[in-house]
Amino acid sequence: MFRKQLTSISVLHASTQSYRATVCAKTLAFDSQHDRGLPKRQSGYGAQARMESEMSKHEPWQLTADAAELYEQYVARYILGPWAPLLVDAAGVATGDRVLDLACGTGVVARVAALRAGTGGSVVGVDLNAGMIRVARSLPPTGGASIEWLEGSALDLALPDASFNAVLCQQGLQFFPDMARGLRQMRRVLKPGGRLALSVWNNAGLYNTAVGETLAQFIGPETAVRFLTTRHQAPTREALEELAMNASFPGAQVRVSRINVHLPRLDEFVLGHLAATPFASLIAALDMETRGQIGATVATRLQHYANGDGVTYPEETQVLTARAG
Ligand SMILES: C[S@@+](CC[C@H](N)C(=O)[O-])C[C@H]1O[C@@H](n2cnc3c(N)ncnc32)[C@H](O)[C@@H]1O
Repeated sequence: MFRKQLTSISVLHASTQSYRATVCAKTLAFDSQHDRGLPKRQSGYGAQARMESEMSKHEPWQLTADAAELYEQYVARYILGPWAPLLVDAAGVATGDRVLDLACGTGVVARVAALRAGTGGSVVGVDLNAGMIRVARSLPPTGGASIEWLEGSALDLALPDASFNAVLCQQGLQFFPDMARGLRQMRRVLKPGGRLALSVWNNAGLYNTAVGETLAQFIGPETAVRFLTTRHQAPTREALEELAMNASFPGAQVRVSRINVHLPRLDEFVLGHLAATPFASLIAALDMETRGQIGATVATRLQHYANGDGVTYPEETQVLTARAG
């Protein structure tokens, strides 16, 4: 029965490209791809990806204020936060640097960069989503450099040329309707010799795979496909290298980084996490028993990684580093 559902997910994925393109643009920043039966990511930034990019241009990216708060509480804190020091290290952020965090969300990377840049440095965080910026501004300062939060598109930065020592972008590029333009903007605002470090997922990830399978089981294959889309749309290494080269980052390097991610009690975490996604209303409309089963099923699927009350599992991402010549 379950295998049949997964098969239908693949068929759906392959045959409804316009549906998928719409979802790409509308889906909030959560994570997923599938390793065992659900559709795989595009193998390159080819014609299909370009078509999707064209189709998704000008799609809005607005969350409710509540969703941005939940994003901070669940996604930024547990899923993306642990990666922030790694990205800041990859860009070699140092005392006195002026740093840009693009697609900053609620600012988890910008705050780490501020500590590294110190009081002599400065940080700017830019995000398209007003709710994210509002939450970023509301959080207590971490110390170090001052941070300016700007609502705006990474594709049309209202920032001067050659004005930053480092540009960071954690799990943001894949959501830009025009990734090439996003990279050209990053190059434009970097000073000569300035450093770029950005990350996009490398694969589904165990947690997201488990959630996708569970959504397929309790809600349906279309929901699982939608949930998994944000990881499918992450560019491959070859696509990243091509994008960087075309944006005048000739020496760009892409490597895969791995860390262990810890999530607290999964039966509770999963429901909170889903509430920070476009599936919030879908999940809220389910009866309590089904919601409880979704949480418990994800926990069972990941029981091999049980650690204390929660789970600790290996996760990996691609990190692109480059220098403006
Ligand atoms: C997965 S979140 C990552 C947020 C943050 N970097 C972090 O690590 O928590 C993706 C972010 O990209 C932002 N985003 C998507 N398209 C954007 C664009 N064109 N310009 C600026 N931000 C964008 C979204 O609003 C969202 O906050």
